[in-house]
Amino acid sequence: MTSAPLPCFELSWLGGPAEAHVAEHRRGVDDLPWNTLDRSRFSPDVLDRARLAWTVSAHQEWCAAASFAALLRAMLEARAPLDLIGMASRFVADEVVHTELNARMAAEVGGGAPLRTDPEALVPEVDPDLDALERACALGIAVSCVGETFSLPVLAGTRAVASEPLVKAVLHRIVVDEAPHGRVGWILLDWALPRLSAASRERLAEVADRALLALEREWSGASDATLAEHGLPAETLHALGWMTPDAYRRVAHNTVRDRIVEPLRRRGVPASLPPSVAPGLSPAPAPS
Ligand SMILES: [Fe+2]
Ligand SMILES: [Fe+2]
Repeated sequence: MTSAPLPCFELSWLGGPAEAHVAEHRRGVDDLPWNTLDRSRFSPDVLDRARLAWTVSAHQEWCAAASFAALLRAMLEARAPLDLIGMASRFVADEVVHTELNARMAAEVGGGAPLRTDPEALVPEVDPDLDALERACALGIAVSCVGETFSLPVLAGTRAVASEPLVKAVLHRIVVDEAPHGRVGWILLDWALPRLSAASRERLAEVADRALLALEREWSGASDATLAEHGLPAETLHALGWMTPDAYRRVAHNTVRDRIVEPLRRRGVPASLPPSVAPGLSPAPAPS
């Protein structure tokens, strides 16, 4: 039996009352310097790579919205503190705005690239046998302590080198929103871990290890988005919203080691460094 092809990743916009109700959260988005990027400076091949990269980023933000929705449900089921649930509630709307920003950037460089999306794979998988508290922690680790903690320095590093005003402005808007996204998982762990056994912490370490290996596949060049930037001069990369591959890898390694694995271990979750991350790597300059 052949399975049906995955649907295309496409976004739509309703306008009217839906748009009016989301206006507060989108404040400032329409004021960014849209239509200022001169596409004639770049070859069609480079623009195609940028279309793909920004489309993949839009899809990642779409997945981040779904992931925070799943984390919220898990925290409610685990009866997490109400203010912590409130903190995470706005992150779904943040990620929806980021989806729009990345999709509009794809349009700025020539239009969204064809991309298939698996509606069953938007959110990190969690073992259904875990109890409610473990499930919330597992999603907190995969979504926030790993995914969001990783993406903030990468985005900040890209913003620091971005040479096009529009690219810099879009990345700045995203970075400002993202800062608390990577905090909520750590606060959740600090509340929940004293309630969990050593065996639970071992299971959570396995969740972290799987998420870190998936990230490693991304920065080591296995993803379409990473492949897109290979072989291009730094000037072009910085204009269109990439770091150089070396800079990206340096930020990735340092972030995984110092901001993810070490803080998990300090909390009694024995996560492992992915194979390519050396324990004694020299620190990279912090992204401004
Ligand atoms: Fe985001
Ligand atoms: Fe985020």
